[in-house]
Amino acid sequence: MTLAHWTNRLAIGALALASGFAGGAATFYSPVHAAGGEPIHIERQEWSFAGVRGRFDREQLQRGFQVYKEVCASCHGLKRVYFRNLVERGGPMFDEESVKALAASWPNQIFDGPNENGDIATRRGALIKRPALLSDPILGPYDNDKQARAAQNGALPPDLSLITKARSVEFHGGVFAHIGQMLMDIANGYQEAGANYLYALLTGYKDPPKGVTLADGMNYNAAFPGHQIAMVAPFVDGSVKYQNEAVPRTVSQYSKDVTAFLAWAADPRLEERKRMGWLVMLYLLVTAVLLYFAKKRLWSTLH
Ligand code: HEC
Repeated sequence: MTLAHWTNRLAIGALALASGFAGGAATFYSPVHAAGGEPIHIERQEWSFAGVRGRFDREQLQRGFQVYKEVCASCHGLKRVYFRNLVERGGPMFDEESVKALAASWPNQIFDGPNENGDIATRRGALIKRPALLSDPILGPYDNDKQARAAQNGALPPDLSLITKARSVEFHGGVFAHIGQMLMDIANGYQEAGANYLYALLTGYKDPPKGVTLADGMNYNAAFPGHQIAMVAPFVDGSVKYQNEAVPRTVSQYSKDVTAFLAWAADPRLEERKRMGWLVMLYLLVTAVLLYFAKKRLWSTLH
């Protein structure tokens, strides 16, 4: 490594930091899948699960599931999440009996597998379904995408299991501000772009501005790329009754809660992963100290 190399590195670091702080006003985020369209501002929200020490708020996950069940589940599936996951550590941690009962009464049932002869049972030509168990996935109302589109005017409500990972936002601003922001995001362990987009989407229903005509069956949404979305606004203030009366029954609160729940669904091992990260750092620290003393000792004979 030459001196020039190091001065170069220092200069880049300083520039990046300086522009990161200075560039604040001119920078913002818009959804990645807004290809070509005008940029959309997506605000960053505060999340309990953000950052290197982030944890889910158990009660919020439970409320979020309630919102999913009472509102979103009438159109969207959650097929990569199994009923048993709702009981496990790190998630909403409902008690097992109530989840069993919930699974048994879930509206869309499970296609039964083959019997011991390998024959798939049918009744009057249709496949037979059975109630869900803890070991079954949380299905949406439709058996397949064609059925979903037929019922939803041609639009497809995507499965929500991985939606907070499948959506992201991108940075708009100067290149140096970008580098500064990137470094800060690395330092803070920032990973909540998908959740920020989802919150903006759910709270983004507005009357269309003057001069905008919506296509048939479309709704105006400030956060959705192109601003015309086939999904109707899923809730209004008061539409979900939370048990805890201290929690506001507002669109903003419902959106926060269901987004936190979907962030857990997409990353059910988040808490375990973050905890493990700290253990690994501790392990590396201890190893480094041991290696330092071992090195001192080994080399001490070479005077
Ligand atoms: C009445 C049916 C219906 C309900 C209820 C509903 N959605 Fe949707 N949703 C749709 C449809 C249809 C689309 C596809 C929209 C499109 O492609 O224009 C969609 C799309 C989405 C998308 C994808 C947006 C994108 O960026 O592509 C997300 C995320 C979403 N819904 C979340 C939710 C959540 C969370 C809830 C519950 C709070 C919910 N939806 C309730 C019908 C519904």
